[in-house]
Amino acid sequence: MNEKPAAQEPFDTQREIVGGHVALKQLLDRLETTEDPRKLLEIIGELNALLTAHFRAEESATGLHEIISENAPQCLTQLQRLFDDHRVLLETVESVSCKLESYLRGPERIREEVTDLCRKLREHEAEESRLLTESLYTDLGRSS
Ligand SMILES: [Fe+2]
Repeated sequence: MNEKPAAQEPFDTQREIVGGHVALKQLLDRLETTEDPRKLLEIIGELNALLTAHFRAEESATGLHEIISENAPQCLTQLQRLFDDHRVLLETVESVSCKLESYLRGPERIREEVTDLCRKLREHEAEESRLLTESLYTDLGRSS
């Protein structure tokens, strides 16, 4: 019987990253279809927690850098740009959260910013998914 390794294996991280993309997609769908601003604020809180953990997994020692280094090192510059996006995206989530709190205290429109945030996150995640798929496809092609 196989024993589970104590340390995080690259496959576990890949599974965590893909799982994060699925959870994020569901959360963004909820975010865009929720009208109640108090509920929106709750979901933004969930988004902040999910993204923090998701980005941590992607940037971990067994995360995207290792996968891309091994399979598509020519994409490392692009990956660094995506990692730089992580900080900007988290700041944007925080900014939207602050504006939503402000809206709840007064009549301020936030829908456009939420939609813009969802668009940016979808584009970001789609680019990462494309990079990951191309990288893994390249690896499969090499090893067969
Ligand atoms: Fe991601």
